[in-house]
Amino acid sequence: MERAVVQITLFGLLLSLVSAQPIKSDWDIYSFHINSTVTSRYATTLITSRVANRMDVPKEIEFQVRIPKNAFISKFRMFIDGQEYNGTVKAKEEAQQQYTGAVSRGESAGIVSSVGRTLEEFKTSVNVAAHKKVTFELTYEELLKRTLGKYELQIHARPMQPVKDFKVDVYIHEKSGINFINVKGGLSKMANAITTQHVDKQAWVYFYPTEDQQKTCEGCGAQGMNGDLVVVYDVNRGVKLGDIMTSDGYFVHHFAPSDLTRIPKNVVFVIDQSGSMSGRKIQQTRIALRHILSDLAEDDFFGLITFDSMLFHWKRELVQASQTNLDNAKKFVNNIRDRGTTDINKAVLEGARMLNATSREGAASILILLTDGDPTSGVTNIETIQANVRKAIADKFPLYCLGFGFDVNFEFLEKMSLQNNGVARRIYEDSDADLQLKGFYEEVATPLLTDVTMVYMGGTNLTQTNFSQYYNGSEIVVAGLITDNNVEAFVPQVVAISGTKRVMFSDTNTTFESTGTVSDVRIQRVWAYLTVKQLLEKQLQLSGAEQEKVKKEALELSLKYGFVTPLTSMVVTKPPGESTDVLHKPKEGKAPPLLPPPPPRSHGSSATRKQGKLMHHFVQGHLRPQALPDGRARPGRKGQGRQIGQAAPPGLPGQIGQAGLPGLPGQSSSPSLSVDHLSRAGDMSMFNAYGSMATDDDVPQFLMPIAYDAYDFDMDDIQATISSHVPHTTAVPSSHRFLLKTQSLPLCFDVTGDARLKLLHYSSRELSVNGELDSSANGGFTKIVIHFSADQHVEINTSEIIVREGNKTSHHTGEDPITAGGVTVIKRNKEVDVAAGDVRLVVLLHEKDGMKFLWPAIRQQPADNAYAHGILGLNATVYEEVQQSPGTKLKINDQVFDVTRSSAVDYSIASPPTLECWLVSAATALQRPLDDFIVMQL
Ligand SMILES: *[C@@H]1O[C@H](CO)[C@@H](O)[C@H](O)[C@H]1NC(C)=O
Ligand SMILES: *[C@@H]1O[C@H](CO)[C@@H](O)[C@H](O)[C@H]1NC(C)=O
Ligand SMILES: *[C@@H]1O[C@H](CO)[C@@H](O)[C@H](O)[C@H]1NC(C)=O
Ligand SMILES: *[C@@H]1O[C@H](CO)[C@@H](O)[C@H](O)[C@H]1NC(C)=O
Ligand SMILES: *[C@@H]1O[C@H](CO)[C@@H](O)[C@H](O)[C@H]1NC(C)=O
Ligand SMILES: *[C@@H]1O[C@H](CO)[C@@H](O)[C@H](O)[C@H]1NC(C)=O
Repeated sequence: MERAVVQITLFGLLLSLVSAQPIKSDWDIYSFHINSTVTSRYATTLITSRVANRMDVPKEIEFQVRIPKNAFISKFRMFIDGQEYNGTVKAKEEAQQQYTGAVSRGESAGIVSSVGRTLEEFKTSVNVAAHKKVTFELTYEELLKRTLGKYELQIHARPMQPVKDFKVDVYIHEKSGINFINVKGGLSKMANAITTQHVDKQAWVYFYPTEDQQKTCEGCGAQGMNGDLVVVYDVNRGVKLGDIMTSDGYFVHHFAPSDLTRIPKNVVFVIDQSGSMSGRKIQQTRIALRHILSDLAEDDFFGLITFDSMLFHWKRELVQASQTNLDNAKKFVNNIRDRGTTDINKAVLEGARMLNATSREGAASILILLTDGDPTSGVTNIETIQANVRKAIADKFPLYCLGFGFDVNFEFLEKMSLQNNGVARRIYEDSDADLQLKGFYEEVATPLLTDVTMVYMGGTNLTQTNFSQYYNGSEIVVAGLITDNNVEAFVPQVVAISGTKRVMFSDTNTTFESTGTVSDVRIQRVWAYLTVKQLLEKQLQLSGAEQEKVKKEALELSLKYGFVTPLTSMVVTKPPGESTDVLHKPKEGKAPPLLPPPPPRSHGSSATRKQGKLMHHFVQGHLRPQALPDGRARPGRKGQGRQIGQAAPPGLPGQIGQAGLPGLPGQSSSPSLSVDHLSRAGDMSMFNAYGSMATDDDVPQFLMPIAYDAYDFDMDDIQATISSHVPHTTAVPSSHRFLLKTQSLPLCFDVTGDARLKLLHYSSRELSVNGELDSSANGGFTKIVIHFSADQHVEINTSEIIVREGNKTSHHTGEDPITAGGVTVIKRNKEVDVAAGDVRLVVLLHEKDGMKFLWPAIRQQPADNAYAHGILGLNATVYEEVQQSPGTKLKINDQVFDVTRSSAVDYSIASPPTLECWLVSAATALQRPLDDFIVMQL
C-alpha cells in the first residue's frame, strides 16, 4: 500500500515535470527500421519501432509516424511482454458507435491526422510496465504514381529520438527492368549513409545513418532525424502495350508508351483574381503564368480569362502561341490585379465556350481553373454550378481545378474535376506556390493520346478503362480479374487517338509476366487498392441510393483487404485496463493542424491531446544545421568530422555523465542522449559514440564478397548477347568469388583456400574487422571478428555472437542488442547489424544447400575512408576497355590485363542477385598482392 502511494507520488511528480517540459527521454527507442518493398510500382512499407521503458514506473509510450497520404494503412500490431495486440479494421460508423464512449471520455488519443502536403500522421500510445519493452509494427501500402517520367517512393524518417539501430531498407523489383534510380530528399545529403545498388530488374537502397548523423543532419536535432528520403526511379519501356502482370486470376496493366509524337493542345486558363488572391498569391500566379506561357509550343492555341464578379478576356477566342501573342499575353498577365468577388460559374462556362468554339482537328483541349475561394457571386449554388459545367463541357475535354490555399471548398473542386474527366490539385500557400502551379501544368503540358480506351477481352471487374487524355511522363494503370483465370482467352488492347489518327496497341505475341506457380498476392492488392480509390472518387460524384451502393462496395473491399480508408477505422485494442484507440484516415480538404513542411517549430499535436494523460509532447523543431548540439559550429567536411569522432572515445561520450536525469528541465535541450540505462547494463542497454558527419558527396565504394558462379542463374535476367560470353567455369573447390565495384561492369576475382582476410582496418582508430573463409566452394565466411580495442572483441559466427572483454567471455543470440565498448550488435532475421562509432556494417547470414555462411557488407563508411585498409575498405577501381576482340583487355592504372566475362553472386544482399563481371586475378583487381589482405590471426 505504502509502495503504491510512493509510486503515485513519483508518477505525479514526473507527470508535472514532463508536462512542464514536453520532451523525451525516459524511454528509449533502441531500434527503428523502415522496410519498403516495391513490386510493379506497388509499395508495401513496414515500420518497426522497438522501445524500452527505462523507468522504475509504468510509462505511456507513444508511437508516432508519418506516412504518405496516398497510402492505406493495412496492418498495425504491438507486442508487449510476448503478447500481441492487433489493430482491426472496422466500418467507420461501427467503430465510432462502439468506441465513441471511450473517445468522448477523453481516453482515446489515437488519430491519424493530415500533415503538410503529402503526409499523414499515425499516432497511438500504450502503457508499458517498468523496464519492459514494446514493439510497434505498422504496414501501409500504396501504388506509386508516375509523374513527369518517374515514380517516387517517399519515406519520412522521424523516429523522435536518435536511434542506435536505425535503418531504412528499400527493395524494388520491376519485371520490365529499372531504367534509373536515385535518392533525393533532405536526408539524402548524408551520402555516405546511403548505399544504392541496381542490377537490371532489381534495386536496393540502404540508408544507415549513425546516431551522430541523426542529430546533425539537415532538419534534425536533439530529437533525432526529421526528414525525407525519396527514392526516384523509372522502368524500361519496351513493349508499347506496356507491362501486364498476372497472378491468381488478377491482372495489372501499366500502359505508358514512349516514342509517341506529341499532339498540339488547346488550353484555356481561367484565373481567379478575386480580393482574396491579393498579395503573394496573385504575385505567384503571375510568375507561374509567365513561365507557363513561355513553355507553350508554337502549334498550341491558348486562351486566358481572369475573373472576379466579372470576366476579363485577354482575347475572346483562342489564339496561336506565336511569339507576338505570347508577349502580349504576358503583358496582360502582368496586369492581373486582385479585386471583387468570385463568380466561378460564369468563368468556367466561358472557358468551356472558348474551347468548344475552337475546333482543331487532332488537338487535345484542356481547361484549367485556378481559384482560392468559394463561389460568392453570380450562381453560388454548388450543385447548379456543377450541373452547368458538366453540360457545357459534355465530356469533350478534361477540367483541372487548382485550389489555392485552404479557404477553397476543395471537395467542390474535386467533384467538379472528377465529373469532367480531370483531377483537382491543391496548391499550398508557400514560397514555392508558383513552382507548384508550373509543376502541375507540366504534367499535362504534353498530351500524347486522347480518348484512350483500354479493352480487355476475357477480363472482368475492371478498374477505370476510359481516359480522356494520356500525357507524356504519366502512366495509365488498369487492374481487373481474368475470367475463370483463363489467360489464353485474355486479350488486352488499347485504342486511342493520336492527333488525327486512330491508333491501336495490341500484341498478339504478348506473354504475360505471370508469377507462375508462385502466387503474388500483391497483384490482387493492386486491384483492390485501385478499385477502392476509384469507388471513393465515384461516390463523391453521386448522391442518394447510388452513392450508398458505391460506398457499400468500397467499404466491403476496404474491410476485406484491411485498408484504413475514409470509410473504415482501425480499432487498436490494448492491454486490459487501457483505452481503445480508434484511428481514422483524415479527410483531404481540411487545413492540417500541423503546417507546413519543412517542419516548423510547432508544438506537436498538443491541441488534440486529451486531459489526464501522461504523454510526451514532442516539439518538432530542430536544431539549425549550422550548430552542433553543444553549440559548436558545424564542422566542415571530412577532416573535422573525423575529429569529432575521435573526440568522443568509443563507449565514453562526454555526455553520458549528464544522462540519468530524464525529463529534467534544462536537460531537455541538451544534446545528451538518454543513456541512463548504462548503469543498469541490462540486456536492453546499448550506447555508442558516433562521430563524423556525412556531407560527403562521394558515393561510398566497397567490395562485395561473392561466391562462385555455380549458383543457379535466372537466364531471364541476363541479356542473350551477354550470356553467350559466359565462359564455362569449372568450380574449383574452396574458391570464393569476390566482386569489386567499378563505374561500369564490376570486376570479380577468386580467392582460393580457407583464408583469413583483412576486411576492414582503420589506422586512425582502434577498429578492425577480419573474416575467415570456409573450405567450401559455395560458402562464404564462417567467422567475422570485430576488434575495437586491444582487449575487446566481438565474434560473429553462424550460430551466435561472442563478446570477449579482457578475460571475460559471454555468448549471445543477438536478439537483444549487445553493447560492448563502442560497438552495438543486434541480430534481426538473417542479418546482424553492427554499429561501431561512425562505421556501420551488416553481416548477412546465408544458407545454401543446408550450409550456413556469413557475408559482410558495409553500409556506412566514415568520412575519412581514405585511411581504411582491407577488402571492404577499397575504393572503386577505374578501368578502361582497350580491346574488345579477339579477347577483351582492360587498362587499369596504365597496365593492360586480359579479362573474361563471367558472373558472380552478390552475397552482400539478403536475397543475392547474380551479377555479370570481368573476371581477373586477385592481384589485378586489388592492385596489390593478395597477401596484403591475409591475416594470420582472426
Ligand atoms: C523487408 O520486407 C520484406 C517483405 O516482407 C522481407 O522479405 C525482407 O526480409 C525485409 N527486410 C528486412 C531487412 O527486414
Ligand atoms: C493478430 O493477427 C495475426 C495475423 O494477422 C494473428 O496470427 C494473431 O493471432 C492475431 N493476434 C491477436 C491477439 O488477435
Ligand atoms: C459546342 O459547339 C458546337 C458546334 O461547334 C455547338 O453545336 C454546341 O452547342 C456547342 N456547345 C456548347 C455547350 O457551347
Ligand atoms: C466481380 O464483379 C461481380 C459482379 O459485379 C461480383 O459479384 C464479384 O464479387 C466481383 N469479384 C470480386 C473479386 O470482387
Ligand atoms: C511475334 O513473334 C514472331 C515470331 O516469334 C516475331 O517474328 C514477331 O516479330 C513478333 N511480333 C512482335 C510484335 O513482337
Ligand atoms: C582477468 O584479468 C585480470 C587482469 O587482466 C586478472 O587480474 C585476473 O586474474 C584475470 N582473471 C582470470 C579468471 O583469469
